Parts: sequence; structure tokens; C-alpha cells
Amino acid sequence: MSLKIKKIILKKNKTKIICLTSYSKNISEILDNYADIILVGDSLGSVLYSYDTTKKVKLNMMIEHSKSARQGIKKSLMVVDMPYNTYRNKSEALFNAKKIIKNTQADAVKLEGGKKIIDIIKHLKKNKISVMGHLGILPQSQKGKFRYKGKTKQERKNLLSDAILLQKSGVFSIVLECIETTLAKKITKELKIPTIGIGSSVHCDGQVLVTDDLIGLNLTSIKFIKSFYNIRKHIDLAVKKFRKEVKNKIYPSKKFSY
Ligand code: KIV
Repeated sequence: MSLKIKKIILKKNKTKIICLTSYSKNISEILDNYADIILVGDSLGSVLYSYDTTKKVKLNMMIEHSKSARQGIKKSLMVVDMPYNTYRNKSEALFNAKKIIKNTQADAVKLEGGKKIIDIIKHLKKNKISVMGHLGILPQSQKGKFRYKGKTKQERKNLLSDAILLQKSGVFSIVLECIETTLAKKITKELKIPTIGIGSSVHCDGQVLVTDDLIGLNLTSIKFIKSFYNIRKHIDLAVKKFRKEVKNKIYPSKKFSY
């Protein structure tokens, strides 16, 4: 296990873990000052490409965006999502995880799911690939409407046992997406590894948010998303100023000409 990953695990019960998404160099450069983990999430499919499902995200897209994001990361742990249909069996998962790591120098990959992918995770671990888990809402296998997880007794039981299985298989952390508050708290308490919540209450060891949502660039009205800034307003202002100066022949002045 790398020192960076050990440091993340040691934060459990001490301080909250900050995780944010990045799909590019410039954003990574800013996040790297504040985040413990920078995730190149397959959410880029909906955020950047307006796909109706992350199932449409391809491996080469993840690799190209990760290569860009990598350039801005010096301190944080870099995790890359393995997209849909790239880890259906052990050999496919290993081949693609190696490809991601070789091309992007990522520190770890993230896979969605519990019991069904335990052998795959063990295989990656055996081959020295660090893995982050993801439970709760799983966008890659989501059918129908999104609703929070942990409503029924059986669902709660399965999620807790999946979390324990993932820990046993060697993941260093688990993203809990849209899991009911008391269950997220219970899972977090049961595990030795940190949980990173998104829509899963304040009780997780860390918190992840899609950066485009956080800065108000991506417009969305999902309950658990808080927009901390209105970056659109500032982009709008800058573009308006540019347009005005060009129309009035102020820009480019002599200073900006050869
Ligand atoms: O794809 C993604 O960005 C994610 C986070 C929302 C956890 O998986």
C-alpha cells in the first residue's frame, strides 16, 4: 500500500477527508491545494458530454481526461473511475486497470458494486492495483428512477454486508452514494477504512462532490447537491467585457499587438 493511501486511511476518526472530481489540468491545479483525493469520475459523461447515462463513457475518454487532470496534481491521491463494461471479469479488469494506470499515473481505480465484483477487486489487489469501492446508487447499473438506498430491511442488510466484503477484499475506501443517514452512520462505524459520502449525510468519514456542481457551472437541482458559488455569473461578466471591448475596438490595443 502506498504512503499516500496509508495517510488517507489514517485520517479516519481524526479529520474529514476531502474528495473532489476533476476532468482537466486547470481544475486539478486548484483542487490540489485543498483535496485529499481527486477523482476523475465517469460523471464526466453527464457533466461534460450530456449523456443520459454514464454507461456511454468509454475507457479512452477516461484516459484522456485523466491525463489532463494528472498534470495539475502534485499532492492529492488521484483515483480514476473504471467505466461501464471495462471490468466484467478478472482479466478484463486487470488489463484495463493497468492501461489506466500506465497512461495516467493514477494512484488507484474506483469500481462500482459489492458482492458481485469481490473476486475482481481481489484480483486487482493481488496485482498491486489499489482500489476504491462505491456502494449505494451505482450509476453504471442504475435502472429507472434514482432513489436513495437503505429503505428496506433487506437493502440495508445487503449494503452493510457489501461494505464489509469490500473492506475484506482490500479496498482502501468506499464511496457511499445516496445512502440513508442512519445506515451510512452504521457502515462508517463498522468499517476500519474510510467512507466517502455523497448524499449520505454528515456521518461519513469524508465528502465528495462533483466540482462543476460545487462551483455552480453545472446546473442541477438534485437534493444533496449544494452549489457553493455561481461561477457562471463571473464567466458571463468576463465574456461580456471581452465582447464590448472587441466591438468598441479597445481590445486588442497596442499592448496586446506585435
Ligand atoms: O463519477 C463520479 O464523479 C463519482 C462521484 C460522484 C462519487 O463517482
